[in-house]
Amino acid sequence: MNDLASTVPNGLFIGVGVGPGDPELLTLKAYRAIQHADVICYLENESGQSQSLDIAVEALKDPIKQQLHLGVRFAMSRERVAANAAYDKAIGQIHAQLKQGKTVVFLCEGDPLFFGSFTYLLERLDSQYASKVIPGIPAFAAATAELQLPLTVLKQSFAVITGRHSDAKIKAALLEHDAVVIMKAGIERPRLLTLLKETKRFDDANYLEYISRDKQKIIRDLNDLEMSAGPYFSLFVITRQEIPKEANQDVKA
Ligand SMILES: C[S@@+](CC[C@H](N)C(=O)[O-])C[C@H]1O[C@@H](n2cnc3c(N)ncnc32)[C@H](O)[C@@H]1O
Repeated sequence: MNDLASTVPNGLFIGVGVGPGDPELLTLKAYRAIQHADVICYLENESGQSQSLDIAVEALKDPIKQQLHLGVRFAMSRERVAANAAYDKAIGQIHAQLKQGKTVVFLCEGDPLFFGSFTYLLERLDSQYASKVIPGIPAFAAATAELQLPLTVLKQSFAVITGRHSDAKIKAALLEHDAVVIMKAGIERPRLLTLLKETKRFDDANYLEYISRDKQKIIRDLNDLEMSAGPYFSLFVITRQEIPKEANQDVKA
């Protein structure tokens, strides 16, 4: 047989969560997967900068192993056509590596399957290739750790929404759930502050940006937060300030 491709076993595609920013929040499993990979793939902005690569940098320090880096240019925008074109291009390059039997790691900020671009690559992956996911610490878990606030206890409910939802949807979540995390706060910040006031959850809310990174900012009193757009890497954590009474009682389930 002179078809070389058919003699080479297919590679493995791994989505690796690298956590919210602090390289020490990388799991040992993620660290090892990155060290052993043949190819490191990640999204990068127009200036070639990649958050997920920056977070994983310590795991890349392997003087012996030469790893191929595949940076996927990605414009931060809500425009889906350009995003889909970037994912199509990326999966083509990933398939080419997998076909040669390589292990390809895709670095994902936070957790790969929690608002992660990895989802769009996984759905495009040819079924002949094996895949695996290594979870990462999501931004909201890092946020509550920094705040040292319990997100939910006992029968409290919890919802995650994004600042891109409609006013009605955001208000409904704030009114219905004890704890709410609002992701992608960025440019929606002024509108979100108004909705927090309208639902009387303003005093329950905390604002965080660049969690676990050098420029981390935490604002616990939202009166100190400007009514203007914030950075993309920002979110609100809203929790009940009082611990429910049943915490100190015997409750029959
Ligand atoms: C596309 S989502 C990615 C979420 C990520 N996969 C995770 O598990 O947290 C991007 C949003 O996550 C939030 N985010 C991620 N990392 C963050 C950080 N270090 N500080 C604040 N917000 C962060 C922001 O709300 C941002 O707009």
